[in-house]
Amino acid sequence: MKIITVMNQKGGIGKTMTAASLAYILGQEHGKKVLLVDADQQGNVSMLYDRFEPEGIGMSELLEKHRSTGGTYSTTELIQTTPYDNVDIIPANGYLMRTNMQLLLNEKEDQIIRFAAAMLEVQDAYDYCIVDCGLLMDMTVTNVLVATDLLILPVKVGGFEVEAIANMAEQVEDLRGLNEGIRIKVLMTMRQKNQTSLQVEQWLKESSGQECFETSVRRSIVAEKATMQRVPLPVFSKSCIVTKDYREVAREILEEMEE
Ligand SMILES: Nc1ncnc2c1ncn2[C@@H]1O[C@H](COP(=O)(O)OP(=O)(O)OP(=O)(O)O)[C@@H](O)[C@H]1O
Ligand SMILES: [Mg+2]
Repeated sequence: MKIITVMNQKGGIGKTMTAASLAYILGQEHGKKVLLVDADQQGNVSMLYDRFEPEGIGMSELLEKHRSTGGTYSTTELIQTTPYDNVDIIPANGYLMRTNMQLLLNEKEDQIIRFAAAMLEVQDAYDYCIVDCGLLMDMTVTNVLVATDLLILPVKVGGFEVEAIANMAEQVEDLRGLNEGIRIKVLMTMRQKNQTSLQVEQWLKESSGQECFETSVRRSIVAEKATMQRVPLPVFSKSCIVTKDYREVAREILEEMEE
């Protein structure tokens, strides 16, 4: 199982859209076994997959009460099926905020290897684990990054992209002692056809110093409609430009991860 995490310390730049769409495309269109993980207390990706429960169990229990750290839950017990074949989910809700505080206050040594330990249990059951993060570099996200193979860093024009990329790259370097193999790849989201958008795209691909997806994801109102309907974008529209772009992103991922 490869772990692909979608994270950037910016709000509203398409992290959830990216995680939800890629999970669907890899699972439903490529027949991969996908485990979607909600690592955001907002629970947005759980909502898109119809598995949001304000009082339900999921990511909080995985981090706080898993067998590997003396708790009672196994990873499998925290995984739910979704309405879509091949895509299962570990959901999250507002309790994740409390979990973050618990992990911070607790002085045990295993605080940031908990997610990695829990994922070992389902290593052979899935091809890909896709993680949607919130916008804070909290204990949950730190746990996730320790286990991550590929970090997708969505970037939106006008979102202080230069600083955002530098910050994330630094944080990943700080964790490299615990996760030598993690790679970062920038994905431009909500691209428009204007000059500014094109200039940022060119900068990302040629001068940012980061690896970048060939595909940029275009902007379309259809994506926002899908979010309002609370379904993954490819379910809402199989053929809109944003779905097509995410298909290309998925193809790039498969090409490099399965070569
Ligand atoms: N390619 C796109 N074109 C148009 N709108 C988009 C696109 N991608 C995402 N959006 C919209 O932008 C908004 C924010 O997207 P999303 O929720 O994926 O961002 P996020 O980075 O996960 O936000 P948060 O930081 O709150 O978790 C949503 O309304 C979504 O529908
Ligand atoms: Mg989100």
